[in-house]
Amino acid sequence: MTKKLITACIGAGNIGRAWAMMFARAGHEVRLFDQNADAPPAALALMRGLLADQKALGLFDDEVEAVLARIKVAPSLEAAVKNADYVQECVYEDLELKRRVFQALDRAAPEGAILASSVSSIPVSQFMENLAGSRRCIGAHPINPPHLLPVTELIMSPSTAPATYERAAAFLTSVGQVPVRINKEIFGFALNRLQFAIVNEALHLIEQGYISATDVDNIMKFGLGRRWAIMGLFEAGHLNANGGLRDYYTKFGETIRSLMQELVLTPNPLGPALVDEIAGELEKTTPIDQVVARQAWRDRQLAALMTHFESMKTKVG
Ligand SMILES: NC(=O)c1ccc[n+]([C@@H]2O[C@H](COP(=O)([O-])OP(=O)(O)OC[C@H]3O[C@@H](n4cnc5c(N)ncnc54)[C@H](O)[C@@H]3O)[C@@H](O)[C@H]2O)c1
Repeated sequence: MTKKLITACIGAGNIGRAWAMMFARAGHEVRLFDQNADAPPAALALMRGLLADQKALGLFDDEVEAVLARIKVAPSLEAAVKNADYVQECVYEDLELKRRVFQALDRAAPEGAILASSVSSIPVSQFMENLAGSRRCIGAHPINPPHLLPVTELIMSPSTAPATYERAAAFLTSVGQVPVRINKEIFGFALNRLQFAIVNEALHLIEQGYISATDVDNIMKFGLGRRWAIMGLFEAGHLNANGGLRDYYTKFGETIRSLMQELVLTPNPLGPALVDEIAGELEKTTPIDQVVARQAWRDRQLAALMTHFESMKTKVG
């Protein structure tokens, strides 16, 4: 059986509660701290409902109350990280705040604890360098909702020790995440750079009148998204020609190269007129007052996909 660890989540908002739930679901003890005393009880109430949904889908074995009992609200940051093995910082995306919190964590956490940040865009070295324990600090950027979209970008700061990466990756794998390694700092890391490269081209096509926003979404939903969901970008190419990826790039390389050379950066990517046009299309099918209900629908669909992907894993071995 995997060793049960002591974990701490600093910040009990969207991301903090998601990590807390995942750590507890995997059997680990969780200390949850938020500077706003109302946040942890609100997070626990939300987690009870989310865990019940996941339990109904068979995503874990324990009783919901047993999972919740592993999550203890801590009265201070220091109490949360006492004897901790793994700490996940989940406070607002604000450089000065993250600096202060990491200084406090580095002072209070035991020497062997990993200090991971949920940071989504700030270069990690800006708040992890110049700490006595910078070797044990690492970025751990999830996607929302992390319990349903299990990839985490692990971002190496220049002074992150390779052993910190290895330990963080092993721990995150044990709670059901798929860690990917960002070897050195780059703005937006990899996931968002890939995402917004596609959004950029979509905006260009819509702005120039080639296609509607609805049909861009149809291409993703019924074409590329479905393919990429099961095999990713490069394996998709590998299976597109009988001789694999080399054969594919040989047969289609000239076209692919010309096309990539033609791609342009949209000069004014989020111009108000274009945003209005796209938002107007979306609001026809999901008016603003139905967005929250549609978010719940999204999470139910993702949970159903999760069970499908779990069964694929066991079938593929
Ligand atoms: N929401 C997303 O889609 C998403 C996805 C990936 C990563 N992230 C990153 O995760 C981090 C948290 O984002 P979120 O969406 O959970 O934010 P959120 O606003 O939902 O929650 C932040 C919580 O941090 C608490 N907090 C602020 N300062 C604190 C302090 N000094 N000590 C303890 N608690 C403190 C706040 O009270 C709040 O409850 C950010 O860095 C964000 O960029 C967010």
